[in-house]
Amino acid sequence: MKIRPEWMLPDLEAARKRTKLPSPRIDSFIIPEEAKWIGRNKKYYISTYGCQANERDSETLAGILDALGFERSMEPDHVDVILINTCAIRQNATDKVLGEIGNFKRFYYENKNLVIGVCGCMSQEEGFVENLLSKYPQVRLIFGTHNIQNLPEMLYSVIHEGKRVVEIYSKEGEVYENLPVHRFGKFKAWVNIMYGCDKFCTYCIVPYTRGKQRSRTMEQILDEVRELKEQGYKEITLLGQNVNAYGKDIDPNINFATLLEECAKIGIPRIRFTTSHPWDFSDDMIDVIAKYDNVMPFVHLPLQSGDSEILRMMGRRYTRESYMELFYKIKERIPNVSVSTDIIVGFPNETDDQFENTIKVMEECKFDNAFTFIFSARPGTPAARMKDSIDMETKSKRLARLNKVWNAYALEKNKAYEGRIVEVLVDGTSKKDDHVYSGYTDTNKLVNFTGENIEPGQFVKVRIKTGKTFSLDGEAI
Ligand code: 5AD
Ligand code: SF4
Repeated sequence: MKIRPEWMLPDLEAARKRTKLPSPRIDSFIIPEEAKWIGRNKKYYISTYGCQANERDSETLAGILDALGFERSMEPDHVDVILINTCAIRQNATDKVLGEIGNFKRFYYENKNLVIGVCGCMSQEEGFVENLLSKYPQVRLIFGTHNIQNLPEMLYSVIHEGKRVVEIYSKEGEVYENLPVHRFGKFKAWVNIMYGCDKFCTYCIVPYTRGKQRSRTMEQILDEVRELKEQGYKEITLLGQNVNAYGKDIDPNINFATLLEECAKIGIPRIRFTTSHPWDFSDDMIDVIAKYDNVMPFVHLPLQSGDSEILRMMGRRYTRESYMELFYKIKERIPNVSVSTDIIVGFPNETDDQFENTIKVMEECKFDNAFTFIFSARPGTPAARMKDSIDMETKSKRLARLNKVWNAYALEKNKAYEGRIVEVLVDGTSKKDDHVYSGYTDTNKLVNFTGENIEPGQFVKVRIKTGKTFSLDGEAI
Protein backbone atom coordinates (compact mmCIF):
# COMPACT_ATOMS: atom_id res chain seq x y z
CA MET A 1 0.00 0.00 0.00
CA LYS A 2 1.36 3.42 -0.90
CA ILE A 3 2.36 5.71 1.96
CA ARG A 4 0.21 8.80 1.97
CA PRO A 5 1.11 12.07 3.63
CA GLU A 6 -1.23 12.22 6.60
CA TRP A 7 -2.29 15.82 6.86
CA MET A 8 -2.92 17.51 3.56
CA LEU A 9 -4.73 20.78 4.07
CA PRO A 10 -6.49 22.89 1.41
CA ASP A 11 -4.63 25.83 -0.09
CA LEU A 12 -6.70 28.27 -2.17
CA GLU A 13 -3.58 29.87 -3.65
CA ALA A 14 -2.62 26.50 -5.14
CA ALA A 15 -6.24 25.81 -6.14
CA ARG A 16 -6.36 29.07 -8.12
CA LYS A 17 -3.43 28.12 -10.40
CA ARG A 18 -4.13 27.28 -14.02
CA THR A 19 -1.55 25.89 -16.46
CA LYS A 20 -1.81 25.03 -20.14
CA LEU A 21 -0.64 21.49 -19.40
CA PRO A 22 -3.03 18.73 -20.48
CA SER A 23 -4.89 17.16 -17.57
CA PRO A 24 -3.59 13.70 -16.63
CA ARG A 25 -5.98 10.87 -17.49
CA ILE A 26 -6.11 7.85 -15.23
CA ASP A 27 -7.95 4.81 -16.51
CA SER A 28 -7.36 2.17 -13.89
CA PHE A 29 -8.80 1.78 -10.43
CA ILE A 30 -7.09 -0.76 -8.23
CA ILE A 31 -8.10 -1.71 -4.71
CA PRO A 32 -4.96 -2.47 -2.63
CA GLU A 33 -4.84 -6.08 -1.37
CA GLU A 34 -5.16 -5.05 2.31
CA ALA A 35 -8.25 -2.96 1.66
CA LYS A 36 -10.15 -5.67 -0.21
CA TRP A 37 -13.30 -6.71 1.65
CA ILE A 38 -12.86 -4.22 4.49
CA GLY A 39 -16.58 -3.65 4.09
CA ARG A 40 -17.69 -7.25 4.49
CA ASN A 41 -20.83 -7.38 6.69
CA LYS A 42 -20.70 -3.61 7.07
CA LYS A 43 -23.09 -0.90 5.97
CA TYR A 44 -22.69 2.66 4.74
CA TYR A 45 -24.88 5.72 4.49
CA ILE A 46 -24.17 8.72 2.24
CA SER A 47 -25.65 12.16 2.72
CA THR A 48 -25.36 14.47 -0.29
CA TYR A 49 -25.63 18.26 -0.44
CA GLY A 50 -25.47 20.65 -3.37
CA CYS A 51 -25.42 20.27 -7.13
CA GLN A 52 -25.70 17.36 -9.54
CA ALA A 53 -21.91 17.05 -9.70
CA ASN A 54 -22.06 16.09 -6.03
CA GLU A 55 -24.94 13.67 -6.65
CA ARG A 56 -22.82 12.00 -9.28
CA ASP A 57 -19.75 11.95 -7.00
CA SER A 58 -21.84 10.24 -4.33
CA GLU A 59 -22.66 7.52 -6.86
CA THR A 60 -18.91 7.00 -7.30
CA LEU A 61 -18.38 6.91 -3.53
CA ALA A 62 -21.15 4.31 -3.31
CA GLY A 63 -19.62 2.33 -6.18
CA ILE A 64 -16.25 2.20 -4.40
CA LEU A 65 -17.86 1.22 -1.09
CA ASP A 66 -19.81 -1.56 -2.86
CA ALA A 67 -16.53 -2.77 -4.38
CA LEU A 68 -15.07 -2.97 -0.86
CA GLY A 69 -17.97 -5.21 0.20
CA PHE A 70 -20.09 -2.65 2.05
CA GLU A 71 -23.86 -2.56 1.69
CA ARG A 72 -25.80 0.67 1.20
CA SER A 73 -28.27 1.77 3.86
CA MET A 74 -30.89 4.47 3.32
CA GLU A 75 -30.80 5.43 7.03
CA PRO A 76 -27.83 6.69 9.07
CA ASP A 77 -28.55 4.58 12.19
CA HIS A 78 -26.71 1.30 12.76
CA VAL A 79 -24.23 1.74 9.93
CA ASP A 80 -20.42 1.44 10.00
CA VAL A 81 -19.52 4.32 7.67
CA ILE A 82 -21.27 7.65 7.16
CA LEU A 83 -20.01 9.91 4.38
CA ILE A 84 -21.22 13.48 4.13
CA ASN A 85 -20.66 14.91 0.66
CA THR A 86 -20.72 18.66 1.20
CA CYS A 87 -21.44 21.85 -0.74
CA ALA A 88 -19.65 25.19 -0.25
CA ILE A 89 -21.56 27.39 -2.67
CA ARG A 90 -23.24 29.54 0.01
CA GLN A 91 -22.91 29.92 3.76
CA ASN A 92 -26.36 28.40 4.44
CA ALA A 93 -25.28 25.20 2.65
CA THR A 94 -22.24 24.93 4.93
CA ASP A 95 -24.34 25.68 8.04
CA LYS A 96 -26.70 22.81 7.20
CA VAL A 97 -23.79 20.41 6.86
CA LEU A 98 -22.34 21.39 10.22
CA GLY A 99 -25.79 20.85 11.77
CA GLU A 100 -25.95 17.35 10.33
CA ILE A 101 -22.44 16.46 11.48
CA GLY A 102 -23.53 17.64 14.94
CA ASN A 103 -26.57 15.33 14.78
CA PHE A 104 -24.42 12.35 13.86
CA LYS A 105 -22.39 12.77 17.04
CA ARG A 106 -24.87 10.58 18.96
CA PHE A 107 -24.22 7.65 16.60
CA TYR A 108 -20.50 7.99 17.26
CA TYR A 109 -21.00 7.93 21.02
CA GLU A 110 -23.15 4.79 20.63
CA ASN A 111 -20.50 3.13 18.44
CA LYS A 112 -16.90 4.34 18.67
CA ASN A 113 -15.99 2.24 15.61
CA LEU A 114 -18.29 4.30 13.44
CA VAL A 115 -16.37 6.13 10.70
CA ILE A 116 -17.83 9.54 9.94
CA GLY A 117 -16.21 11.02 6.85
CA VAL A 118 -16.64 14.47 5.35
CA CYS A 119 -15.85 15.11 1.68
CA GLY A 120 -16.86 17.36 -1.20
CA CYS A 121 -16.47 21.08 -1.71
CA MET A 122 -16.41 22.23 1.94
CA SER A 123 -13.32 20.09 2.55
CA GLN A 124 -11.53 22.18 -0.08
CA GLU A 125 -12.13 25.43 1.85
CA GLU A 126 -9.35 26.91 3.95
CA GLY A 127 -10.01 26.84 7.69
CA PHE A 128 -12.79 24.23 7.47
CA VAL A 129 -10.61 21.21 8.25
CA GLU A 130 -9.10 22.85 11.33
CA ASN A 131 -12.60 23.72 12.55
CA LEU A 132 -13.82 20.15 12.05
CA LEU A 133 -10.80 18.60 13.69
CA SER A 134 -10.98 20.77 16.76
CA LYS A 135 -14.75 20.82 17.33
CA TYR A 136 -16.02 17.55 15.90
CA PRO A 137 -14.15 14.55 17.35
CA GLN A 138 -16.69 12.25 15.70
CA VAL A 139 -15.25 13.06 12.25
CA ARG A 140 -12.49 10.51 11.52
CA LEU A 141 -11.94 11.14 7.83
CA ILE A 142 -11.83 14.29 5.71
CA PHE A 143 -11.05 14.23 2.01
CA GLY A 144 -11.42 16.54 -0.97
CA THR A 145 -12.97 16.46 -4.43
CA HIS A 146 -9.67 15.29 -5.99
CA ASN A 147 -9.19 12.37 -3.57
CA ILE A 148 -12.27 10.19 -4.07
CA GLN A 149 -10.30 7.44 -5.85
CA ASN A 150 -8.18 6.96 -2.71
CA LEU A 151 -11.18 6.03 -0.56
CA PRO A 152 -10.08 2.36 -0.11
CA GLU A 153 -6.67 3.33 1.32
CA MET A 154 -8.11 6.14 3.42
CA LEU A 155 -10.77 3.89 4.93
CA TYR A 156 -8.18 1.20 5.59
CA SER A 157 -6.07 3.71 7.56
CA VAL A 158 -9.06 4.80 9.63
CA ILE A 159 -10.53 1.34 10.27
CA HIS A 160 -7.41 -0.81 10.65
CA GLU A 161 -4.70 1.64 11.71
CA GLY A 162 -6.97 3.75 13.94
CA LYS A 163 -5.81 6.94 12.25
CA ARG A 164 -7.69 10.15 11.73
CA VAL A 165 -7.13 10.83 8.02
CA VAL A 166 -7.14 14.19 6.24
CA GLU A 167 -6.33 14.11 2.54
CA ILE A 168 -7.05 17.13 0.38
CA TYR A 169 -5.26 18.06 -2.83
CA SER A 170 -5.53 21.65 -4.00
CA LYS A 171 -4.67 21.37 -7.66
CA GLU A 172 -5.98 21.51 -11.20
CA GLY A 173 -7.05 17.88 -11.07
CA GLU A 174 -7.12 14.79 -13.26
CA VAL A 175 -9.72 12.94 -15.28
CA TYR A 176 -10.48 9.56 -13.70
CA GLU A 177 -12.17 6.94 -15.86
CA ASN A 178 -13.47 3.56 -14.81
CA LEU A 179 -14.13 4.37 -11.17
CA PRO A 180 -16.92 2.09 -9.96
CA VAL A 181 -20.40 3.61 -9.92
CA HIS A 182 -23.56 2.70 -8.05
CA ARG A 183 -26.29 4.62 -9.86
CA PHE A 184 -29.03 5.71 -7.49
CA GLY A 185 -31.62 6.13 -10.28
CA LYS A 186 -32.95 3.18 -12.27
CA PHE A 187 -34.04 5.08 -15.36
CA LYS A 188 -32.50 8.53 -15.03
CA ALA A 189 -28.71 8.88 -15.00
CA TRP A 190 -26.10 11.60 -14.64
CA VAL A 191 -23.22 11.62 -17.11
CA ASN A 192 -20.20 13.77 -16.35
CA ILE A 193 -18.83 15.31 -19.51
CA MET A 194 -16.31 17.59 -17.83
CA TYR A 195 -15.00 18.55 -14.43
CA GLY A 196 -13.99 21.87 -12.85
CA CYS A 197 -14.41 25.42 -14.08
CA ASP A 198 -12.09 28.14 -15.40
CA LYS A 199 -14.58 30.99 -15.45
CA PHE A 200 -13.72 32.39 -12.02
CA CYS A 201 -16.90 34.45 -11.59
CA THR A 202 -15.87 36.74 -8.76
CA TYR A 203 -18.43 35.44 -6.24
CA CYS A 204 -17.93 31.74 -6.90
CA ILE A 205 -15.91 29.17 -4.97
CA VAL A 206 -16.35 26.34 -7.50
CA PRO A 207 -13.18 26.95 -9.59
CA TYR A 208 -11.21 26.65 -6.31
CA THR A 209 -12.97 23.59 -4.97
CA ARG A 210 -13.23 21.63 -8.23
CA GLY A 211 -10.12 22.61 -10.16
CA LYS A 212 -9.45 23.36 -13.78
CA GLN A 213 -11.87 22.61 -16.61
CA ARG A 214 -11.14 19.03 -17.69
CA SER A 215 -13.25 17.46 -20.42
CA ARG A 216 -13.68 13.73 -20.78
CA THR A 217 -13.06 12.38 -24.26
CA MET A 218 -16.00 12.10 -26.59
CA GLU A 219 -15.48 8.33 -27.04
CA GLN A 220 -15.62 7.70 -23.33
CA ILE A 221 -18.77 9.76 -22.87
CA LEU A 222 -20.50 8.13 -25.84
CA ASP A 223 -19.54 4.65 -24.61
CA GLU A 224 -21.14 5.48 -21.27
CA VAL A 225 -24.30 6.77 -22.96
CA ARG A 226 -24.53 3.62 -25.13
CA GLU A 227 -24.14 1.46 -22.04
CA LEU A 228 -26.88 3.40 -20.24
CA LYS A 229 -29.19 2.92 -23.20
CA GLU A 230 -28.51 -0.83 -23.17
CA GLN A 231 -29.26 -0.90 -19.46
CA GLY A 232 -32.67 0.63 -20.16
CA TYR A 233 -32.10 4.18 -18.96
CA LYS A 234 -34.75 6.58 -20.25
CA GLU A 235 -33.14 9.90 -19.45
CA ILE A 236 -29.60 11.16 -19.13
CA THR A 237 -28.33 14.55 -17.99
CA LEU A 238 -24.96 15.64 -19.31
CA LEU A 239 -23.15 17.39 -16.48
CA GLY A 240 -20.56 20.14 -16.31
CA GLN A 241 -20.18 23.50 -14.57
CA ASN A 242 -20.35 25.00 -18.04
CA VAL A 243 -21.18 22.39 -20.66
CA ASN A 244 -20.95 24.92 -23.52
CA ALA A 245 -17.18 24.99 -23.05
CA TYR A 246 -16.97 21.20 -23.44
CA GLY A 247 -13.92 20.01 -25.35
CA LYS A 248 -12.08 23.34 -25.58
CA ASP A 249 -9.39 22.07 -23.22
CA ILE A 250 -8.68 18.88 -25.20
CA ASP A 251 -9.26 19.47 -28.90
CA PRO A 252 -10.24 22.66 -30.76
CA ASN A 253 -12.21 20.54 -33.24
CA ILE A 254 -14.73 19.16 -30.77
CA ASN A 255 -17.47 21.10 -29.04
CA PHE A 256 -20.65 20.61 -27.07
CA ALA A 257 -22.95 20.82 -30.10
CA THR A 258 -21.17 17.83 -31.69
CA LEU A 259 -21.24 15.86 -28.44
CA LEU A 260 -24.93 16.59 -27.91
CA GLU A 261 -25.74 15.53 -31.47
CA GLU A 262 -23.80 12.27 -31.13
CA CYS A 263 -25.58 11.54 -27.84
CA ALA A 264 -28.94 12.26 -29.49
CA LYS A 265 -28.17 9.79 -32.30
CA ILE A 266 -27.63 6.99 -29.78
CA GLY A 267 -31.35 7.22 -29.23
CA ILE A 268 -31.82 7.45 -25.49
CA PRO A 269 -35.39 8.83 -25.15
CA ARG A 270 -34.54 11.96 -23.16
CA ILE A 271 -31.34 14.01 -23.00
CA ARG A 272 -30.84 17.01 -20.77
CA PHE A 273 -27.75 19.03 -19.94
CA THR A 274 -26.71 21.45 -17.24
CA THR A 275 -25.34 24.12 -16.73
CA SER A 276 -24.94 26.56 -19.60
CA HIS A 277 -23.00 29.77 -19.20
CA PRO A 278 -24.49 32.40 -21.56
CA TRP A 279 -20.93 33.31 -22.65
CA ASP A 280 -20.32 30.42 -25.02
CA PHE A 281 -23.77 29.17 -25.96
CA SER A 282 -23.30 28.57 -29.70
CA ASP A 283 -25.81 28.73 -32.56
CA ASP A 284 -24.89 25.14 -33.37
CA MET A 285 -26.06 24.11 -29.90
CA ILE A 286 -29.42 25.79 -30.47
CA ASP A 287 -29.73 23.98 -33.81
CA VAL A 288 -29.04 20.58 -32.26
CA ILE A 289 -31.56 21.13 -29.46
CA ALA A 290 -34.16 22.19 -32.03
CA LYS A 291 -33.38 19.34 -34.44
CA TYR A 292 -33.55 16.28 -32.16
CA ASP A 293 -36.78 15.28 -30.46
CA ASN A 294 -34.87 13.47 -27.75
CA VAL A 295 -32.92 16.58 -26.72
CA MET A 296 -35.33 18.19 -24.29
CA PRO A 297 -36.56 21.71 -25.05
CA PHE A 298 -35.32 23.06 -21.77
CA VAL A 299 -32.38 25.36 -21.08
CA HIS A 300 -31.07 26.45 -17.71
CA LEU A 301 -29.41 29.78 -18.45
CA PRO A 302 -28.13 31.55 -15.33
CA LEU A 303 -28.58 35.32 -15.61
CA GLN A 304 -27.17 36.19 -12.13
CA SER A 305 -28.00 39.89 -12.61
CA GLY A 306 -29.92 42.01 -15.10
CA ASP A 307 -27.50 44.92 -14.70
CA SER A 308 -24.49 45.12 -16.98
CA GLU A 309 -22.26 46.86 -14.43
CA ILE A 310 -23.00 44.21 -11.78
CA LEU A 311 -22.38 41.52 -14.41
CA ARG A 312 -19.00 43.13 -15.09
CA MET A 313 -18.20 43.13 -11.37
CA MET A 314 -19.25 39.48 -11.24
CA GLY A 315 -16.84 38.70 -14.07
CA ARG A 316 -19.64 37.16 -16.13
CA ARG A 317 -18.34 38.27 -19.59
CA TYR A 318 -21.77 39.21 -21.00
CA THR A 319 -24.06 42.21 -20.76
CA ARG A 320 -27.77 42.48 -20.17
CA GLU A 321 -28.17 43.12 -23.92
CA SER A 322 -26.15 40.12 -25.07
CA TYR A 323 -28.03 37.88 -22.60
CA MET A 324 -31.35 39.10 -24.00
CA GLU A 325 -30.19 38.54 -27.55
CA LEU A 326 -29.29 34.93 -26.72
CA PHE A 327 -32.53 34.44 -24.80
CA TYR A 328 -34.65 35.52 -27.77
CA LYS A 329 -32.62 33.41 -30.17
CA ILE A 330 -33.26 30.34 -28.01
CA LYS A 331 -36.97 31.16 -27.72
CA GLU A 332 -37.37 31.72 -31.45
CA ARG A 333 -35.47 28.73 -32.69
CA ILE A 334 -36.46 25.99 -30.25
CA PRO A 335 -40.19 25.28 -30.39
CA ASN A 336 -41.94 25.13 -27.00
CA VAL A 337 -38.67 25.72 -25.10
CA SER A 338 -38.71 26.49 -21.40
CA VAL A 339 -35.95 28.50 -19.80
CA SER A 340 -34.94 28.64 -16.15
CA THR A 341 -32.33 30.80 -14.48
CA ASP A 342 -30.24 31.59 -11.41
CA ILE A 343 -30.15 35.06 -9.89
CA ILE A 344 -28.02 36.54 -7.13
CA VAL A 345 -29.36 39.63 -5.34
CA GLY A 346 -27.34 41.85 -3.05
CA PHE A 347 -23.98 41.52 -4.78
CA PRO A 348 -21.65 43.98 -2.97
CA ASN A 349 -22.86 47.57 -3.45
CA GLU A 350 -25.75 46.67 -5.76
CA THR A 351 -27.88 49.83 -5.91
CA ASP A 352 -31.69 49.96 -6.01
CA ASP A 353 -31.52 50.91 -9.69
CA GLN A 354 -29.23 48.00 -10.48
CA PHE A 355 -31.58 45.63 -8.68
CA GLU A 356 -34.51 47.13 -10.65
CA ASN A 357 -32.67 46.17 -13.83
CA THR A 358 -32.80 42.54 -12.70
CA ILE A 359 -36.54 42.89 -12.09
CA LYS A 360 -36.94 44.34 -15.59
CA VAL A 361 -35.19 41.36 -17.18
CA MET A 362 -37.38 39.04 -15.11
CA GLU A 363 -40.47 40.87 -16.37
CA GLU A 364 -39.29 40.61 -19.92
CA CYS A 365 -38.08 36.99 -19.93
CA LYS A 366 -40.86 35.53 -17.77
CA PHE A 367 -38.68 32.56 -16.84
CA ASP A 368 -40.34 29.20 -16.29
CA ASN A 369 -38.34 28.67 -13.14
CA ALA A 370 -35.75 30.60 -11.17
CA PHE A 371 -33.31 29.80 -8.39
CA THR A 372 -32.76 32.99 -6.46
CA PHE A 373 -30.10 33.63 -3.85
CA ILE A 374 -28.75 36.37 -1.64
CA PHE A 375 -25.05 36.93 -2.30
CA SER A 376 -22.97 34.95 0.15
CA ALA A 377 -19.33 35.98 0.62
CA ARG A 378 -17.12 32.93 0.04
CA PRO A 379 -13.75 33.41 1.73
CA GLY A 380 -10.92 33.55 -0.81
CA THR A 381 -13.04 34.84 -3.72
CA PRO A 382 -12.56 38.41 -5.08
CA ALA A 383 -16.18 39.42 -4.29
CA ALA A 384 -15.68 38.47 -0.64
CA ARG A 385 -12.95 41.11 -0.44
CA MET A 386 -15.20 43.89 -1.80
CA LYS A 387 -16.46 46.39 0.76
CA ASP A 388 -20.25 46.16 0.84
CA SER A 389 -22.55 49.04 1.77
CA ILE A 390 -25.85 47.14 1.43
CA ASP A 391 -27.39 45.76 4.62
CA MET A 392 -28.96 42.32 4.97
CA GLU A 393 -32.47 43.67 5.47
CA THR A 394 -32.37 45.38 2.07
CA LYS A 395 -31.04 42.20 0.47
CA SER A 396 -33.79 40.09 2.02
CA LYS A 397 -36.46 42.51 0.82
CA ARG A 398 -35.01 42.37 -2.68
CA LEU A 399 -35.07 38.58 -2.66
CA ALA A 400 -38.71 38.54 -1.53
CA ARG A 401 -39.69 41.06 -4.22
CA LEU A 402 -37.85 39.13 -6.94
CA ASN A 403 -39.49 35.88 -5.89
CA LYS A 404 -42.91 37.49 -6.00
CA VAL A 405 -42.29 38.68 -9.54
CA TRP A 406 -41.03 35.38 -10.95
CA ASN A 407 -43.62 33.32 -9.08
CA ALA A 408 -46.39 35.33 -10.74
CA TYR A 409 -44.94 34.63 -14.19
CA ALA A 410 -44.33 30.96 -13.42
CA LEU A 411 -48.00 30.66 -12.40
CA GLU A 412 -49.11 32.41 -15.58
CA LYS A 413 -46.98 30.04 -17.69
CA ASN A 414 -48.22 26.96 -15.87
CA LYS A 415 -51.86 28.09 -16.21
CA ALA A 416 -51.30 28.10 -19.98
CA TYR A 417 -50.79 24.31 -19.72
CA GLU A 418 -54.37 23.77 -18.50
CA GLY A 419 -56.23 21.49 -20.93
CA ARG A 420 -53.05 20.46 -22.73
CA ILE A 421 -51.81 16.88 -22.97
CA VAL A 422 -48.17 16.41 -21.99
CA GLU A 423 -45.85 13.43 -21.88
CA VAL A 424 -44.44 12.65 -18.44
CA LEU A 425 -41.58 10.34 -17.49
CA VAL A 426 -42.89 8.84 -14.23
CA ASP A 427 -40.59 9.11 -11.18
CA GLY A 428 -42.91 7.37 -8.70
CA THR A 429 -45.71 8.21 -6.36
CA SER A 430 -45.97 11.64 -4.82
CA LYS A 431 -44.45 12.08 -1.36
CA LYS A 432 -47.80 13.11 0.10
CA ASP A 433 -50.17 10.61 -1.54
CA ASP A 434 -49.58 7.03 -2.77
CA HIS A 435 -52.33 7.34 -5.34
CA VAL A 436 -50.81 10.37 -6.96
CA TYR A 437 -47.86 9.89 -9.31
CA SER A 438 -45.25 12.44 -10.21
CA GLY A 439 -42.77 13.03 -12.99
CA TYR A 440 -41.48 15.66 -15.37
CA THR A 441 -42.46 16.92 -18.81
CA ASP A 442 -39.93 17.45 -21.60
CA THR A 443 -39.90 21.13 -20.55
CA ASN A 444 -38.92 20.09 -17.02
CA LYS A 445 -42.26 20.89 -15.40
CA LEU A 446 -43.14 18.81 -12.35
CA VAL A 447 -46.49 17.06 -12.87
CA ASN A 448 -48.57 15.38 -10.15
CA PHE A 449 -51.28 13.21 -11.62
CA THR A 450 -53.76 10.44 -10.90
CA GLY A 451 -53.84 7.17 -12.81
CA GLU A 452 -54.03 3.38 -12.63
CA ASN A 453 -51.28 0.72 -12.68
CA ILE A 454 -48.48 3.07 -13.57
CA GLU A 455 -44.83 2.11 -13.05
CA PRO A 456 -41.84 4.39 -12.46
CA GLY A 457 -39.80 4.80 -15.65
CA GLN A 458 -42.89 4.70 -17.88
CA PHE A 459 -43.84 7.50 -20.28
CA VAL A 460 -47.46 8.53 -19.69
CA LYS A 461 -49.72 11.03 -21.44
CA VAL A 462 -51.31 13.34 -18.91
CA ARG A 463 -54.09 15.88 -19.36
CA ILE A 464 -53.30 18.97 -17.28
CA LYS A 465 -56.17 20.21 -15.15
CA THR A 466 -54.54 22.87 -12.98
CA GLY A 467 -51.40 24.95 -13.38
CA LYS A 468 -49.83 25.98 -10.06
CA THR A 469 -46.75 28.09 -9.34
CA PHE A 470 -44.31 25.20 -8.94
CA SER A 471 -46.14 22.27 -10.54
CA LEU A 472 -48.97 21.04 -12.74
CA ASP A 473 -51.86 18.77 -11.67
CA GLY A 474 -53.51 16.37 -14.09
CA GLU A 475 -54.79 12.88 -14.88
CA ALA A 476 -53.33 10.10 -17.00
CA ILE A 477 -55.22 9.40 -20.22
N1 5AD B 1 -23.57 33.63 -3.31
C1 5AD B 1 -24.85 33.42 -3.75
N2 5AD B 1 -25.16 32.62 -4.77
C2 5AD B 1 -24.14 32.00 -5.41
N3 5AD B 1 -24.12 31.16 -6.45
C3 5AD B 1 -22.85 30.80 -6.70
N4 5AD B 1 -22.02 31.39 -5.82
C4 5AD B 1 -22.80 32.15 -5.01
C5 5AD B 1 -22.53 33.02 -3.92
N5 5AD B 1 -21.29 33.24 -3.48
C6 5AD B 1 -25.33 30.79 -7.19
C7 5AD B 1 -25.26 31.21 -8.65
C8 5AD B 1 -25.02 29.92 -9.37
C9 5AD B 1 -25.76 28.95 -8.49
C10 5AD B 1 -25.38 27.53 -8.68
O1 5AD B 1 -25.45 29.37 -7.18
O2 5AD B 1 -26.48 31.77 -9.01
O3 5AD B 1 -25.50 29.93 -10.71
FE1 SF4 C 1 -19.04 29.38 -10.61
FE2 SF4 C 1 -19.08 31.00 -12.75
FE3 SF4 C 1 -17.87 28.57 -12.91
FE4 SF4 C 1 -20.56 28.74 -12.73
S1 SF4 C 1 -19.29 29.53 -14.44
S2 SF4 C 1 -19.19 27.35 -11.55
S3 SF4 C 1 -20.85 30.54 -11.39
S4 SF4 C 1 -17.25 30.30 -11.64
